[in-house]
Amino acid sequence: MTYLKYEEAPPLAASTMNSLRGVGYGAGAAVADLVDNSIAAGCSRVDIRFQADGARSFVIIEDDGRGMSDSELSQAMRIGSKNPQEQRSSEDLGRFGMGLKTASLSQCQKFTVLSKHAGGTVSLRCWDLEHVQRSNAWQLLCEAPDLPDGVEEGLAARNRGTVVVWQNCDTWGAKDGVDQERFKRAFYRTVESVDHHLRLFFHRYLDSSKFAISINGNKLNPWDPFMNWHHATTRSPKERVGPDCFLQGFVLPHKDRLTASEYAQGGGRDGWTAHQGFYIYRNDRLLVAGSWLGLGDDRRWTKDESFRLARISLDISNSSDAEWSIDIKKSTARPPERLRSKLTDLAQVTRKNARRVFAHRGSYGPRTQTPLRSPIWGSTLRGDHHIYRVNRHHPLVETALSAIKDPSILESLLRMIEETVPVQKIWLDVAEAGELSPQPFQHADPQEVQTILQALYDSYTQHQGYSPQEACDRLLETDPFQYYPELVKKLNPGGNSNGS
Ligand SMILES: Nc1ncnc2c1ncn2[C@@H]1O[C@H](COP(=O)(O)OP(=O)(O)O)[C@@H](O)[C@H]1O
Ligand SMILES: [Mg+2]
Repeated sequence: MTYLKYEEAPPLAASTMNSLRGVGYGAGAAVADLVDNSIAAGCSRVDIRFQADGARSFVIIEDDGRGMSDSELSQAMRIGSKNPQEQRSSEDLGRFGMGLKTASLSQCQKFTVLSKHAGGTVSLRCWDLEHVQRSNAWQLLCEAPDLPDGVEEGLAARNRGTVVVWQNCDTWGAKDGVDQERFKRAFYRTVESVDHHLRLFFHRYLDSSKFAISINGNKLNPWDPFMNWHHATTRSPKERVGPDCFLQGFVLPHKDRLTASEYAQGGGRDGWTAHQGFYIYRNDRLLVAGSWLGLGDDRRWTKDESFRLARISLDISNSSDAEWSIDIKKSTARPPERLRSKLTDLAQVTRKNARRVFAHRGSYGPRTQTPLRSPIWGSTLRGDHHIYRVNRHHPLVETALSAIKDPSILESLLRMIEETVPVQKIWLDVAEAGELSPQPFQHADPQEVQTILQALYDSYTQHQGYSPQEACDRLLETDPFQYYPELVKKLNPGGNSNGS
């Protein structure tokens, strides 16, 4: 329809610019949005510098990408410089024509972009919120007299590239008059969170020898959420879920299969439970880091302790942005309705496997081992609930039942214990500590372990008729004595037990 009656109603500069600040970026996501631009510009390096110095604090993000001409830069600084419906090249990590401006404004009141094409000269543009407030006009500055020393000269001396400078970083608390020591600590904590964010969100890029990001001169190492480098990680084959959508499930190794430093590394910054779920990549750049995406069977899945080892990668391309509801910050993505049930089914497989590895302390997976004998606890499903039972055929239980005059007393005691297993309390304790329960006998006196082992050995040899060698072989297959081959060997020093 063509309209003839209208009036111009452009947005008011001061209030619009202020509202844009509240899009809700964290520091990491804001820097990541600028790194996206650098990658889209074909750079091989992004160097980030942070300096905490009261009101003179700054952040500089510098790349060696193809740069912009003066008119391109002027266009790039406009809010909504590109139409989100425009077709983008498959390597372009942008979408709304907003990132450079909204990400920068979310972190600072003044940002300057300097850029240079190969063989060209340096162009400069600056948005200063204070100036826009005062003039209430969209006046993009062509000068920035108080830039940190050497920024302009540095770019002029290089062949090409782009530099973004954030000043007056009020959201980082950068102002005079505050306790400088406290401010610096908070400032560098934010730097640390940016460091972690970039190592995770760009881990596939950082894996390549052709791309690097540094922070204050230190090159960032990738943080691979799937521990692909570890031999005990198991992965399902890659599945094609849709035209441009691929899924792969990973079950990470159980704690028992990791060294202390591998375990700490795998838990990342937020811990094992928080890092479970889907990882959505758009053109290899992570958008969503660990979420069950509102999927579920009867009810939505939450991040439960028992699925802590399940992580699933999901790859989409930038041509499916609208379908996946990519937001301005590029930090949320929602699966389209038509894929939800397929994603749920595939994720269910990974979740089940992960739960098994978690519950069996790593016995699922490539390790082939004789199944363990005589677990003392068993569980079965009654209705919707698991119930826990002491195995009456465990050798120690059998021996005890046969050794006392009135076995019904012991039977009553066992039933009492079974009916009152403090499941809620155990569940809360484990969840609150964010830790796995200790190994059986982990904190016990070795003498005590030896005593229990001896009792079990006696019951095998004296009540069940096994030879000393057979008893030792069985003990090495009885949980948890497979972890104590040295103690088992002591029981029958002459024997050639297969665990020694
Ligand atoms: N570091 C950079 N190098 C070259 N061009 C850039 C850089 N940063 C931004 N641009 C240009 O500015 C435009 C606007 O960037 P931005 O506001 O982030 O929106 P989008 O990335 O969605 O296009 C980009 O499309 C690109 O053309
Ligand atoms: Mg962008």
